[in-house]
Amino acid sequence: MTTINGRTAVITGAGSGIGQAVARRLAAHGCPVALADWNEEGLEETAASIGGPVLTRKLDVRDRQGLMTFAAEVTEWAPAPLGLVFNNAGVTVLQGVADAAPEDDQWVFDVNFGGVTNGVTAFLPILLEQRSGVIVNTSSVFGLVGFPHQSAYCASKFAVRGYTEALRQELRGTGVRAATVHPGGVKTNIVVNARFRADHRGEHQDVQSAATAFADVARTTPEKAAEIIHKGIEAGRPRIRVGSDAVLFDLLARFAPNRYYDVIERLETLLRRGR
Ligand SMILES: NC(=O)c1ccc[n+]([C@@H]2O[C@H](COP(=O)([O-])OP(=O)(O)OC[C@H]3O[C@@H](n4cnc5c(N)ncnc54)[C@H](O)[C@@H]3O)[C@@H](O)[C@H]2O)c1
Repeated sequence: MTTINGRTAVITGAGSGIGQAVARRLAAHGCPVALADWNEEGLEETAASIGGPVLTRKLDVRDRQGLMTFAAEVTEWAPAPLGLVFNNAGVTVLQGVADAAPEDDQWVFDVNFGGVTNGVTAFLPILLEQRSGVIVNTSSVFGLVGFPHQSAYCASKFAVRGYTEALRQELRGTGVRAATVHPGGVKTNIVVNARFRADHRGEHQDVQSAATAFADVARTTPEKAAEIIHKGIEAGRPRIRVGSDAVLFDLLARFAPNRYYDVIERLETLLRRGR
């Protein structure tokens, strides 16, 4: 098992939430970090909080050429061999299938899945050439179960999971690994940054109200998520579940593949009563 500590780490979506926390944690473990995000302000905030070597690039992960250029730049800059490429940038939209705006579904799919494939296309040749390193792609618990009013997000995250699991098999014997991250609820800006049309219970009129409710149920801090992801990578895990809710969703999907939402709905009701 090779450690990633001290090796260069590439992280997309590093201007907020999980990506920001992973950047800070890895930098604290001696990793030079190359950070990308389309939110320049967030990116600068992350960079300013890191003591060691940092490279930042404002880019949209849907832009394959932009990621290819970034990969060339990272190769030139990297003070240590590349250890990790974390394709993590992601977005969501809250809307029902019957009334869905196709352009919002497309946006979610292009960022969440297209961003991952673009990142892999840009960086995998470098890892294969050096015969080491880990590609880590962020899926979700919604890459394990279907959830109402999250259809495009679920589709994109199931796609990330399938793509990464296929890649994992292709990489056997190459010295390079691939892992999928399945976070449960993590207290980040994912809902604040979402597009909003309707939620599944019809309780919210706007994204602010949905974000407040999400903050109530999301149990894991970004720092704890970063710790679980870092330790999972170091342990060589191919599937990294973040939070006890992620473990529960995973078990439900496996053991009650036709009934998991009955249980999730009941748990949601209990959780809300307990608040
Ligand atoms: N927070 C959760 O509960 C949760 C659960 C499961 C999965 N995830 C996944 O974790 C990943 C990180 O999300 P987060 O929760 O930290 O949310 P976040 O909104 O706090 O961070 C996401 C970051 O990605 C960036 N980003 C979005 N679109 C981009 C684009 N096209 N190009 C470049 N950067 C872009 C945003 O600017 C932001 O800085 C996402 O893939 C998300 O789907 C989050």
